[in-house]
Amino acid sequence: MSEPVRGPVNIVLTGPPGSGKGTQAARLAAALGSEHLSTGDLLRAEITAGTPLGEAVAGVVSAGELIPDEMVTELVLPRARAAAAAAGYLLDGYPRSLPQARALLATEIPPDRVIALDVPAPELLERMLRRAQLEGRTDDTPEVIEHRLRVFAESTRPVLDLFAERGLLSVVPASGPPDAVASSILDQLPRKDRQP
Ligand code: AP5
Repeated sequence: MSEPVRGPVNIVLTGPPGSGKGTQAARLAAALGSEHLSTGDLLRAEITAGTPLGEAVAGVVSAGELIPDEMVTELVLPRARAAAAAAGYLLDGYPRSLPQARALLATEIPPDRVIALDVPAPELLERMLRRAQLEGRTDDTPEVIEHRLRVFAESTRPVLDLFAERGLLSVVPASGPPDAVASSILDQLPRKDRQP
């Protein structure tokens, strides 16, 4: 068990595409009172609204590539600072490259804990293909899913190694029912941070 964290708790939720970051972030935000900041949702909202940022990133997101580090960092850090000053942040999808991780670690609001969701690759594929039928996300085609998994392995896996070196990483098996996974995540967090 790690040292208790006082005040707002700042959490990074990471893991490959389809591992349940969004699903778990919603549960954790409800349990902890912290603010869920999903880079994917923020970017998709910009795309739907047709903003200049949305227009600039639409093709990149559809192709399953990462948008430039500076662009996503400028989008996330002001919101993370505001959340950290309130009840804490719950970052879903950031950082996912070493420059992004270093940018976050260099702030006055580094994460108190990093949770990496671990799901076998065949299950990830199955989940995203099922979601494709329900939601029709442009990046949920078999080819783009395969590419997103490769981008995770190449660009985001080293981020997990960096956080592990800093003693911040907890890897949580995330194949079970969502509520059971949420409970396993909460077990990794200091109990005093939970709301009664
Ligand atoms: P983003 O939206 O973050 O996509 P992702 O990381 O590929 O993750 P997903 O949304 O596919 O999955 P998830 O892990 O959130 O799982 P979910 O809960 O949805 O990013 C999209 C794109 O934006 C990127 O590809 C990139 O282009 C860009 N981007 C974002 N952040 C960026 C950054 N920092 N830098 C640069 N570019 C960035 O669950 C998946 C499915 O599984 C759902 O249908 C769900 O219902 C189901 N499910 C969840 N949990 C379970 C369970 N326990 N059992 C069974 N089914 C489950």
